[in-house]
Amino acid sequence: MSNVLQQAILDNIPDQAWLKDAESRYIQVNDAFMTACGLTAEQILGKTPSDVWPTDWGGRYVDTDMAVIASGQRMRYEEQRFSAAGEVRWFDTIKAPVFDEQGKVVGTAGISREITDRKHAEQELRESRAQLRELSAYLQSVREEERTRIARELHDELGQTLTAIQLGLGALDNAVRNGGDAEAMRSGLSGLVALADNASRSVQRLATDLRPPILDGLGLGAALEWQTEAFVERTGITCELVLPQPPVQPGGEIETAVFRIMQEALTNVARHAEATRAEVTLHLDGDRLILRVVDNGKGMLLSSTAPRRLGIVGMRERAYMLGGELRLQSSPGHGTQIEVSLPLQSGDNTGEEQKGA
Ligand SMILES: Nc1ncnc2c1ncn2[C@@H]1O[C@H](COP(=O)(O)OP(=O)(O)O)[C@@H](O)[C@H]1O
Ligand SMILES: [Mg+2]
Repeated sequence: MSNVLQQAILDNIPDQAWLKDAESRYIQVNDAFMTACGLTAEQILGKTPSDVWPTDWGGRYVDTDMAVIASGQRMRYEEQRFSAAGEVRWFDTIKAPVFDEQGKVVGTAGISREITDRKHAEQELRESRAQLRELSAYLQSVREEERTRIARELHDELGQTLTAIQLGLGALDNAVRNGGDAEAMRSGLSGLVALADNASRSVQRLATDLRPPILDGLGLGAALEWQTEAFVERTGITCELVLPQPPVQPGGEIETAVFRIMQEALTNVARHAEATRAEVTLHLDGDRLILRVVDNGKGMLLSSTAPRRLGIVGMRERAYMLGGELRLQSSPGHGTQIEVSLPLQSGDNTGEEQKGA
């Protein structure tokens, strides 16, 4: 095959390809190789890697050439290089010995494929797995905490009250049998009524904590109003709530998600923002439901190096599970805005429709 034809094959390979003699001098290179080092064939052929690449890489390439020649074995390895713009690029490189008819190594052939995108995808996958692990550990610990709290409340409050009621009823029973003093019995009874009242309130509080009944009973708008009032009462921060007209009834899962996301967002405003005002709006945009929580507080840096906290991750996951997304806008001194967009038609992010592909 003529040299021109060989070169045509080489130049049409998107990977960098080259041939070197036993002294690491380039004999043939392809277009992709020349583009990568920014030199022409005339500037490359007959030179060694140290002349072509920045010195420390050049030295390394000569070393691997020599290792391949000495061992007569093919090598394959991943390496990093910097692009002209200073970005890290990743390459999968193969170097193989070239033998003559007598089986003597006369040079090396090499191919280097850029795998930066794959590396990034692997990195993202690793990070998202780590994030999922963190999130599930967090959810686990939240669940345990909640159970501990409920168990304590059941035992300490409800349990104690019920025991007191039992004892009181026993004493009353005794008094009735033995013709006790009517006035004392009446006062014992009213004490028991108060205790029963207590018990019933404590059950209500527990149940409301677990799942606000207002969410199931009166719909999303009422639940958000209830939550807004509770927030204002608890924090003294002004909070305006704007609801869609006419009211929307997106149904169970979406309502719970909107409610819980608003709860976490307002908790963050109370805990972190040092705000004097917050605003919550819910509105329809086409077939999406948009919840926005804005505060006028101190804001935050959104740099990706900030430690990852799980409140925001949890809100994002909730939105994502319903096929929606969460956008966070904030900068120091300029408040924070969280916007969640949820599709009203159910759909999740794992099985997206393929429209007009
Ligand atoms: N509304 C807000 N204003 C200012 N800073 C906020 C706000 N919301 C969140 N942050 C910052 O972002 C961090 C992460 O929030 P989050 O994920 O909910 O975790 P946590 O509330 O447990 O710290 C908070 O620790 C806080 O520094
Ligand atoms: Mg939080």
